[in-house]
Amino acid sequence: MDFDLARIERETFLSAIEFHDEIGSTNDRALKVCDDSSIIAPRLILAERQTAGRGRGVHRWWSHSGALTLSLVLDAADIPMPFENWPMISLFAGLAVTETLAELASDESIRVKWPNDVYLGEKKICGILCEIPPSRPPRLVLGIGLNVNNSLRDAPPELLRTATSLTDETGLEHDRTEILIRLLQHFERQLQSFRSESSAPFLHLWSKRCLLTGRQVTHSSGDKRLLTGNCLGIDAQGALLLETTQGIERLLGGTIVDWT
Ligand code: BTN
Repeated sequence: MDFDLARIERETFLSAIEFHDEIGSTNDRALKVCDDSSIIAPRLILAERQTAGRGRGVHRWWSHSGALTLSLVLDAADIPMPFENWPMISLFAGLAVTETLAELASDESIRVKWPNDVYLGEKKICGILCEIPPSRPPRLVLGIGLNVNNSLRDAPPELLRTATSLTDETGLEHDRTEILIRLLQHFERQLQSFRSESSAPFLHLWSKRCLLTGRQVTHSSGDKRLLTGNCLGIDAQGALLLETTQGIERLLGGTIVDWT
């Protein structure tokens, strides 16, 4: 294990960290933690390897050793917005990842793809899975998979075309403790600024990083219905705005499956 857990705990807002050499899915473990209010939060569940990593919808998540593979369990007190807006937290996490990566790789090429993928150039480098279980008191799970020192050369061939890692882009080995600390600090700063100044600074930063604004995109809501239009960015609730021939559509779920 090359993580300095004591340093991560000292330099971030976390109350506790657990580390697993190997686990099925850090999000599955985090959902169990949500059911036990005697386990304190904010808590980080960090793993070297996942054997059953989950992506959004029906997707699996490939996470080889060397990636940053983690889930955060947050309490209501950590989340500065009403319960119905909690899914927006995943947009904050996406932005925190872009801000962190911008310090390490070519700044201009790092973008958020709504709702919360992070792209480096035309390839995905990070995926985020936000889950809100029916636990009492309510808690939120934020799962983040960031490709750091795991070269995509070791990944299934279909991923090589669409995904990348920090080491593949920079040719360097990166310090995952440092990256994780910066990511958590960016995330906390955004939550604090939202608490004190509302959504304007966050929306400004997020919009500057948006991969899709001004592009022709196709949205899928999971069924067969596809919607195509010009992307106008996001609104204050994090919904994606699409200018279609029928007028402006406000999208809260689903995925953008194509963009030009
Ligand atoms: C996606 O892009 O579809 C979301 C991927 C989320 C992957 C992370 S890795 C850590 C956490 N545990 C999981 O099982 N999934 C998330």
